[in-house]
Amino acid sequence: MGKLANKSEVLYHIGFAPERLRGATYALLPGDPGRVQTLAEALGPAEFIATHREYTSYLADLAGEPILVCSTGMGGPSVAIGVEELARAGITHFIRVGTTGSIQEKINLGDIVINDAAVRLEGTSTHYAPLAYPAVADLRLTNALVAGAQAAGVTYHIGTSISSDTFWPGQERYDSFTGYVPRRFQGSTAEWRALGCTNYEMEAATLFVVARAFGLAAGCVCGVVAKRTDSEKVAPTDTYAQASAAFAATVKEALLLLTKKAGK
Ligand code: URA
Repeated sequence: MGKLANKSEVLYHIGFAPERLRGATYALLPGDPGRVQTLAEALGPAEFIATHREYTSYLADLAGEPILVCSTGMGGPSVAIGVEELARAGITHFIRVGTTGSIQEKINLGDIVINDAAVRLEGTSTHYAPLAYPAVADLRLTNALVAGAQAAGVTYHIGTSISSDTFWPGQERYDSFTGYVPRRFQGSTAEWRALGCTNYEMEAATLFVVARAFGLAAGCVCGVVAKRTDSEKVAPTDTYAQASAAFAATVKEALLLLTKKAGK
């Protein structure tokens, strides 16, 4: 067990003290601060806790169980900072709820992908464990997300994310300022596809490595907002809404199972 913060100590980046969590041990981690309130209210009555830098937090009441929803911003460094402080505040289970670009033909816009592993195409996790260390999700959380997707009736896929430090070159996007993708990434999407990877995003690998290195549990579910076999573009807002509804319903069902409130 790591070192917990004092109950009344306001943690520097997340901007609140552990006592505000009312004993919550589960956290949902969207990237976007703008999605926190909606996601929290999809679980049940929710109260605002704090907003500081990229970390906006609400505490939701899911059938009597407190669940924290806290944004992480984009990319590995801000995920690692958030997880460090949330772990010190008593969170033991982290579920990333994000958006993603699919790279397999069969994965469509608005579907969800449950990531049970991630390629460490980022740098932050190497500060916590050598590259030989795997970025894998917790099995119990992953199984609950699968059961949650089934209960919610959404179209889901399970697979390996490629967690990239960049949205453009690392995800082999050419519609950038220069249009140039360094040689190391040219052809990389086809290679990841051939290796069976499912999607690009920017946070799962860091979350999986940091949580496992801490002896804590992490899972990840992402809504598909770009279909890279068709286009580099991110889809219009109605697809965002469809993907958000799918992952919100999935995590709610998953959390009901995990906290043993299902059917109550
Ligand atoms: N997030 C990413 O990192 N990539 C995408 O294509 C979509 C969302």
